[in-house]
Amino acid sequence: MTKQECVNQLLANRSETPLSTVKSFAPANIALCKYWGKRDTELNLPVTSSLSMALGTLGSHCNLSFCEDHDQVILNEAPLPSDSPFVTRLSDYLDLFRKQPDQYYRVETINTIPTAAGFASSASGFASIALALNTLHGWDLSDRECSILARLGSGSACRSLWQGFVEWHVGHQDDGLDSFAEPIPTPWTDLQIGLLVLEAGKKPISSRDAMLRTVKTSQLYKAWPQKVDTDIQTLRTAIGKHDFDQLGATAESNALTMHATMMGAWPPVVYWLPETVVAMHKVWQCRREGLSVYLTMDAGPNVKLLFQSQDEAQLLAEFPNLLIAR
Ligand code: PMV
Repeated sequence: MTKQECVNQLLANRSETPLSTVKSFAPANIALCKYWGKRDTELNLPVTSSLSMALGTLGSHCNLSFCEDHDQVILNEAPLPSDSPFVTRLSDYLDLFRKQPDQYYRVETINTIPTAAGFASSASGFASIALALNTLHGWDLSDRECSILARLGSGSACRSLWQGFVEWHVGHQDDGLDSFAEPIPTPWTDLQIGLLVLEAGKKPISSRDAMLRTVKTSQLYKAWPQKVDTDIQTLRTAIGKHDFDQLGATAESNALTMHATMMGAWPPVVYWLPETVVAMHKVWQCRREGLSVYLTMDAGPNVKLLFQSQDEAQLLAEFPNLLIAR
């Protein structure tokens, strides 16, 4: 099935009551149990479920309206050239929703999270656009349906519609209509996540390409679905009990196992830089000294730290550049 067929199915029988301009916000999310591997590359359908936590006010604000002649994309107050890779990717996504071929959009995005540094700005970006498209066109879609629309832009975007913990259900249907995210209604206010920006430059390989290569060439990938099965259950239990050490240890092990599958690919995918490894050792040293802190990492060299509010001051003393999500 194509993306267009999926969108047509979702929007069938929806009346349109368009507005002229709308605003939305979507928080970025960091997976505690990662999405790594697609069973359908067209629809961004995953091989496994995944589970994330949202980053509060760090995310993407979107102002969306209709405009004439061509799509206009303004990112962090700078208009982007229409042939830039980001605009091409966004226009391809917007093509799915135009009522007529000459209906264009003006997308103004402000990211409050460092863009393209492995901090999931594409997740919050596509989620904020999916939410804004729904309001702009007046489709009145449910959150579940908006999650599916966001997934068509970027897989992890389907988890960026809510604050707190979110689970993306793997689904089994070919049309992906059962592969959407949902919030886990268990607040945990003492749980904190902080971002260590070690390298803000462009990644050597996109998460999309790294995922494809890993699934295709890494023998270690065979072990991944089973690892996710165990970890996601442990995380659900840890969230229910507010068991920080269980949550942190599971998230850290899950991230490192994901990176191990990439290293087993050919050519190998290694996002880690020397600074990444130094930060990892520092986290483990802190833990040996009694500070309760765990790490996770995505498809990039930067490290995210999980800790509890009571340890914030001590953690900031160890990692002064930590950007804490609020
Ligand atoms: O949504 P994508 O295609 O950018 O993939 C994201 C993959 C990871 O960030 C590495 C893991 C995850 O679950 O967010």
